[in-house]
Amino acid sequence: MTEDVSRTLAPELLDESDLLVESTLRPRSLEEYIGQRDVKANLSVLLTAARGRGEAADHVLLHGPPGLGKTTLATIIARELGVNIRYTSGPAIERAGDLAAILTALDERDVLFIDEIHRLNRAVEEILYPAMEDFALDVMIGKGPSARSLRLSLKPFTIVGATTRVGRISSPLRDRFGATYRLDFYEEAELRAIVERSARILEVPIELDAAAAIATRGRGTPRIVNRLLKRVRDYAQVHGDGTVDRATAHQAMRALEIDDEGLDATDRKLLAAIIQKFASGPVGVAAIAAVLSEEVETVEDVYEPFLLRLGFLDRTPSGRVATEAARQHLAKLGYEIPPARRPEPEMAALWELGEPEGLDDELEALDDEPEPPFEPGSDPEESSPA
Ligand code: ADE
Repeated sequence: MTEDVSRTLAPELLDESDLLVESTLRPRSLEEYIGQRDVKANLSVLLTAARGRGEAADHVLLHGPPGLGKTTLATIIARELGVNIRYTSGPAIERAGDLAAILTALDERDVLFIDEIHRLNRAVEEILYPAMEDFALDVMIGKGPSARSLRLSLKPFTIVGATTRVGRISSPLRDRFGATYRLDFYEEAELRAIVERSARILEVPIELDAAAAIATRGRGTPRIVNRLLKRVRDYAQVHGDGTVDRATAHQAMRALEIDDEGLDATDRKLLAAIIQKFASGPVGVAAIAAVLSEEVETVEDVYEPFLLRLGFLDRTPSGRVATEAARQHLAKLGYEIPPARRPEPEMAALWELGEPEGLDDELEALDDEPEPPFEPGSDPEESSPA
C-alpha cells in the first residue's frame, strides 16, 4: 500500500483508524480540554446552570474549520450533563421520519449531536423547528383533504449542531440555538500541550522541542498534530530507538513533504498556481479548485482557512491573491516567482462566472510544470543529520 503523504495534513477524519486514535486521545471533560478558553468558560456556565436546574441544556451550535474539536465538545457536553449522546449528521437524515425516529428515542435531557447541520434538507429542518422550540413533533396523518396534523410531545433534549459553514444555516434554524460558539485555530503553545498529552497517552517518549516542531506544523488543528505525532512515532521506531527527538521529528516531516510553515504539497500547488499561472492573483476560487481537482467547497473549507491565517492568501472582492509572504516562502523553496500583476477586477470577476475558454489547456500546462525538489527549511540548524 502506498501512503498518500499529501493527506497527512487533512483536517477531516480520513479512516477508521483515524477515528479510533482520535477517540483514544479525546479529552473527556472541559477540564482536560486544552484551548478554546472563551468557549470553555461560556459552556461551563451554561452546563453548570442547566445541571443545577435539572433541566435540558439550551441547544448549542458549534462552528469553525474541521478538526478543531466540535465532536469532542459535544461528547464532553453530554458527559458533563451526565446524559447519553446520539451522533448523526445532516446528510444522514434523509427524511422527516428518520429524524422523528431519532427524537422519539431520546431520553430526558439527552444530547443529539448533528454534524454538518447545514446540510439538513428542508423537510427535515421543518420538523426540527417545533422539536427544538417546544419539544413537539408535528406529524401529518393521512393525505389530501382529510390530512390533519397531530402534535406529539417529546422529552426535553439538547441539540448540539456542528458546522464548518455557519452562513449556510437558515436563520430560523440558527435562531433556535440558545448558544452559538465559534471554534478558532489553536495557538502553538496549546498544540504543543496537546502533543505532549497525546504522547503520554500513547506512551511515546518525546522531547519538548520535538513536540514544538510538530505543533508548528499542525495548522492550528489538534486532529492534525495528533496524526503527525503518530507518523513521527512510526519514523522514530523504524529509523531510531523509538524516542521522538527534534532531529527525528524534522526528518519524519521532511519525508511527509511538510515544510517549515506546515504547508503540504497541495498547499504549495495552490499557491504556486496563483503565483505562476495567475500572476499572484486576483483569481476566482473556481479556477483554484480546478487546478487542485477539488470541489470549491473543499478549497474554501479545508485549504484556504489556514493559508489565510498564515497571511499567505488574501480574499479580495475580485478574487484570491497570493501575498508577498507566500511569494517569499515559495521563493525560498526554489519556486520560480514571476512578477505580480496589479488587480484587474473585471478579469478576475470572470473566473467567478465560469471557466474562461482555454482554462483546461492552461491547467494541463500547469500540471506539467515540475515542483522543485522539496527542501524544507533554509535554517542550517534544522537539517540535522540522521
Ligand atoms: N486532543 C484533541 N484535541 C484536544 C484538546 N482540545 N485538548 C486536549 N486534547 C486534545
